Amino acid sequence: MIRIADRVFTLDTPDTTYMFRVLPEGHLEHLYYGASLGDPAEKTDEEIQEDAEALGEKREFPQGNAISWDEEHQSLCMEDLRSEISTTGKGDLRDTMISLIHADGGRTSDFLYESSEIREGKEPLETLPSSYADPADGKAEHAETALTNASAVSADASDGKEELAETALTDASPVSANPAHGKVEQLVVTLREASGDCRLELHYYVFEDCDVITRTVKLINCGSGKIQIRRLLSAQLDFETAGYKMSVFTGAWAREMQRHELDISGGRVVSSTTAGISSNACNPFVMLYPEGTSETAGGCYGINLIYSGNHYESAEVSRFGKTRFLTGINPEGFSWQLLPGEIFEAPEAVMTWSGSGFTGMSLHMHHFVREHIVRGEWKHKARPVLLNSWEAAYFKFDEKKLLRLAKAGKDAGIELFVMDDGWFGTRDDDTQALGDWTVNKKKLPDGLKGLADKIHALGMDFGLWVEPEMISANSDLYRAHPDWAMQIPGRQHAEGRHQMLLDLANPEVVDYMIDCMSDVFSSADINYVKWDMNRVMSDVYSPWLASQRDDAECQGETAHRYILGYYRMLKTLTEKFPHILFEGCASGGCRFDLGVLCCCPQIWASDDTDPVERSTIQEGYSYGYPMSVVSAHVSASPNHQTLRETPLDTRFNVAVFGVFGCEMNLCDMDHREFQELKEKILLYKAWRDVLQNGDFYRGRTGRIHEWTCVAPDRKKAVGMILQEKAVPNAPFEQFRARGLDGGLRYHFYSLEQKRDIRSFGDLVNTASPVHVKPGSFLHRLIADFVTMPGEQEEVRASGRLLMDAGVKLAPGYAGTGYNENTRYFADGCSRMYFMEAD
Ligand code: GLA
Repeated sequence: MIRIADRVFTLDTPDTTYMFRVLPEGHLEHLYYGASLGDPAEKTDEEIQEDAEALGEKREFPQGNAISWDEEHQSLCMEDLRSEISTTGKGDLRDTMISLIHADGGRTSDFLYESSEIREGKEPLETLPSSYADPADGKAEHAETALTNASAVSADASDGKEELAETALTDASPVSANPAHGKVEQLVVTLREASGDCRLELHYYVFEDCDVITRTVKLINCGSGKIQIRRLLSAQLDFETAGYKMSVFTGAWAREMQRHELDISGGRVVSSTTAGISSNACNPFVMLYPEGTSETAGGCYGINLIYSGNHYESAEVSRFGKTRFLTGINPEGFSWQLLPGEIFEAPEAVMTWSGSGFTGMSLHMHHFVREHIVRGEWKHKARPVLLNSWEAAYFKFDEKKLLRLAKAGKDAGIELFVMDDGWFGTRDDDTQALGDWTVNKKKLPDGLKGLADKIHALGMDFGLWVEPEMISANSDLYRAHPDWAMQIPGRQHAEGRHQMLLDLANPEVVDYMIDCMSDVFSSADINYVKWDMNRVMSDVYSPWLASQRDDAECQGETAHRYILGYYRMLKTLTEKFPHILFEGCASGGCRFDLGVLCCCPQIWASDDTDPVERSTIQEGYSYGYPMSVVSAHVSASPNHQTLRETPLDTRFNVAVFGVFGCEMNLCDMDHREFQELKEKILLYKAWRDVLQNGDFYRGRTGRIHEWTCVAPDRKKAVGMILQEKAVPNAPFEQFRARGLDGGLRYHFYSLEQKRDIRSFGDLVNTASPVHVKPGSFLHRLIADFVTMPGEQEEVRASGRLLMDAGVKLAPGYAGTGYNENTRYFADGCSRMYFMEAD
């Protein structure tokens, strides 16, 4: 709930309290964010005042050589104030949330309290996707506003009340299965700049069901001159002490979401990107926590941004030993002209806190993403098992080859066949044809419809790949509209994967691509679309913007305008084709963020399908995102990205914890492996509900990965243990489940193990009466008839025991003997365990 008690604001969720107040001078002092300080509804106004008094900092004199706010208020030094927002020019030398150039050229801003109100429900951002409250409870409005192309919406300059200029409200409203999850309250606090030329609205949304608070700010130009925005970040958190740790998730192509812990003990630490998209180099999701917080214990803040463009997260320790955290649009390369009457909205930041370590924080985030980010028809619908053609065929295919693959898929139990890149224009490799979205008749003589019908006739759904934001220099589109590419006239243009970005700042380009994609999506019965984006930004320049404005500075708006254009295109198309399951992608996980997830219920997490690498990557995502949005596929061994060989078991065990699919040439699999995959797909279908809708828990991470996914009612769970690198002479191993109901008794079991005899190499000779040369015809022949049995676990135990003590597993092979009760656990081996309550 939200409570205002005489200029003290309390935002309350079951486990957390967030408090700030108005100081006598008019600034907002941040008081507290952390463990719940008790239900504010049960406190009197006086008690809330007392709380604020106890939490507020006491001041008597100026500090050192810090600047005082003014002559009369010597003790108020902005540099040492824990504030809700910070600005440049009044002595706050820390990284600031807001930096403006006013019409008179002054760069000082000083926002003072004007008014506040509590509103029911969730207002959409007019220009960006935002979290939403389920409208089914009748209290909240869905963020279903058609996006305008410009971020600025007009405001009535006389009273500062905004009137939305270009909003076209659609009547499409999302379908949700769970009306209980919608309750959201909103606090709006309005501040006025001391000169009177602009107002700032702070919007806070409280999502009680998942202990999440989100924040946005809107800047309204209510003066008569132009304001240049140099930075307008989305959220600020000021802590009273130093010594925090910040976990950031860095990476590269095929190596996304590697967790790194940074010390915030002095100076400034920044995680940011100018890639133009959220990037695989640093995800916008970060964690902040004091020394000592672990996976299972201690306080942990999780912070994310609902934005897909350049983002910025910084943590800084001030001269006075306080820590400031900021998140929002990256100010590097950004500027925005705000004319009288216009409004600029910053993207929405998401914050949560848990006292139960990383796990507690992750569970809040998972819940929030599932209920308030993912929306539409597919929100809670079972995801089909898909087969993607990319690693099976790359660009080399025709209809015959695809149908052969699809038939094998059908036989294996695949439910959705996806044709990846290569089906349009002259797209025989990645140097050409992006922008030419007409079918390649040489490859598909009966067109998309012909292929789609044949796939449907096999009893499968059909999906395809597109990359609508791109243009190849070698394309008919570029030959017709060279000015539609993002490039600087007269300069040589840098390329990524031989392609350029379309100028999505240009509304005409966005409209054209919406029409073009609408034609593709309605040309056949298409059930799924993989929306790819395969290069980061360079030569950031909008020829369209240059044609509209004569100030050189306007190009500082291009990167953000691109994202607004992208959102308009994505939102329009996903709403126009609500039955299609959209999957986001950007060279794997180069744009894995909450903005994309507002429209696409899942994202291809990485082009790396090696299960050993994937276990770290998926674990990385799991800190901030539920596994139900992380796509994962079984692919061939040796793996195409690392050439590592891994058993099918492991490839399957890792992929099923995400949105499961296959991406390999099933026609080339040997019979036994194909049958094994078929059985596994059946197994997945039996446990899909738990794996897709369950809560994901990390156990050990590192050399051993230990996961548990627990059904919402905690009666069923699936566990997994994976060993990256074997340790010699180490037979002991155990599995510790997490998230079970301690009071229930579970049947804990694993499936029968059958090991190919060839995986023991020439050890076969320790048992064979005749000598067998490894790799020989005889070796292969024996392997066809003899498999080595392995351990099978089966035990009944309480949830308490399974979680706190763990099950001691059958001994692992340790170089001294092997029989049917031994665990074969070489490099990259894994096991899956099933738990069912009695
Ligand atoms: C990107 C994607 C891949 C595949 C190719 C096709 O790299 O991440 O999955 O779709 O593009 O060109």
